[in-house]
Amino acid sequence: SELQPTILTIFGGDGDLTRRKLIPALYNLYIDGFLPGKFKILSVDQRDVSQDDYNKRHYEGVNQFSRRGKADKEKWKEFEQYITYVQADITNNKSYNQLKSIFSDIDKEWKVEASRIFYMAVSPNFIEVLANHLNKAGIAGNSEKHRIVVEKPFGHDLESAKNLNKVLQGIFSESQIYRIDHYLGKETVQNLMAFRFANALFEPLWNRNFIQQIQITVSENVGVENRAAYYEQAGAVRDMIQNHILQLICLIGMEPPVDLQANSVRDKKLEVLHAIRHFSEDNVYVNAVRGQYDKGWIEGNKVKAYREEDNINKESLTETFAALRFFIDNWRWQGVPIFVRTGKRLQETTSYITIQFKEVPHKIFPSGVRELVHPNLMVISIQPQMGIRIHFQAKKTGLDMQLKPVDMIFNYSDSYSNDPPDAYETLLNDVMLGDATLFMRSDQIEESWSIIMPILDVWASNPPQKFPNYPSGSWGPPEAEALIAHDGFYWHTFTEPLDINPN
Ligand code: BG6
Repeated sequence: SELQPTILTIFGGDGDLTRRKLIPALYNLYIDGFLPGKFKILSVDQRDVSQDDYNKRHYEGVNQFSRRGKADKEKWKEFEQYITYVQADITNNKSYNQLKSIFSDIDKEWKVEASRIFYMAVSPNFIEVLANHLNKAGIAGNSEKHRIVVEKPFGHDLESAKNLNKVLQGIFSESQIYRIDHYLGKETVQNLMAFRFANALFEPLWNRNFIQQIQITVSENVGVENRAAYYEQAGAVRDMIQNHILQLICLIGMEPPVDLQANSVRDKKLEVLHAIRHFSEDNVYVNAVRGQYDKGWIEGNKVKAYREEDNINKESLTETFAALRFFIDNWRWQGVPIFVRTGKRLQETTSYITIQFKEVPHKIFPSGVRELVHPNLMVISIQPQMGIRIHFQAKKTGLDMQLKPVDMIFNYSDSYSNDPPDAYETLLNDVMLGDATLFMRSDQIEESWSIIMPILDVWASNPPQKFPNYPSGSWGPPEAEALIAHDGFYWHTFTEPLDINPN
């Protein structure tokens, strides 16, 4: 394997992310033969638990969360050999000396200085502490082969993100820092670049001359789940827009990079962020709508209002829904609105992007038929459906000229027989390969925060008039409809299966 000998240390090694995402992803990488020949996982956490019990718990985690379903017992037994559970307090110096001696034992055994990857799957307030300890113990070195992986949220606002960058960059070089945005690891999100830059067909149309408007919906029908402590402080804008959705806008809006090198791609994305029109105090209300879910119905089950959920403030002002209008002020996109909406407890769990093209300049069809000439629509489905559909008009079979909207459809499951890897498989593999293309650079993070800060500030100083303001199971508050109706549009709902043509 081309991968260098690697020791992956997971801080928060017994936590939720490790159980749901990291261990299942590593297990799948093992099954597919993508782990380094020499490999070790050190799971560091506080809990007093035996290696056996740790393994059992994570075996069950794999059964529950792996995309492949139940683990193969034999394969798991082999995979298990990689894992060492290290009980340690990450705020204590001693723990890092303990790690240091583990590293040197392994290096001796392997007769090489292994690449050390430190995955910080811990609450954000520990990241600085961890980084400082790694530095003091001298175990994360200055070599590019040692890397740290930082989970979101990266900061709570622009200032804290800047501070965190400063701390990390004081210890590591930027090329050692891998800031995760797991959306970038999704197949359909990576495909945005393939689709745009591996085809000559669409790119000539990909600008203000042909595109009328763009919409992004990232909706979930789950509520706050068991993440009250985090979510109360975050809300929908911090949780989804600052990171995932702004990255989607970058991928749709960016100029072609010269190659796929990490910095070539990230430079082009940064240009998009720079060009996004900044909100100002007096226009936040025209461009941004917030919501909070009330009780309601999800798939036939009665669900609670946000304020009634466990550990949520009874008068919480946290938004669980946000709808925003963005503009990219540059040559390519001037005047094309990008409408974005995201939220919890919405009608469906679905993510898709729609590109609406301009009207034909002149409709030649007789009245009665003319009205059916709708603008072309491209729907890029990110999940759970994966594919692209192009919606256009065709002549209905028959003696006279009647029109019918039809679709050209690309569906992943029709085109590929293999199950797509989970985002974390892709991203962990990239970290081991040292490829930072799908990770956030410090300047991207800061620019993203600076885009949304005016919204957060205005909202914070003007409490919402009426929360809760949308029933669970709806598509959000009526103000979200008004936001888009103001420009003469409506939200595209494209949730029917890709292989069915609407009549
Ligand atoms: C996370 C958010 O980053 O993304 C969650 O913190 C959200 O609130 C999740 O549920 C959605 O991820 P996915 O991969 O299920 O779309």
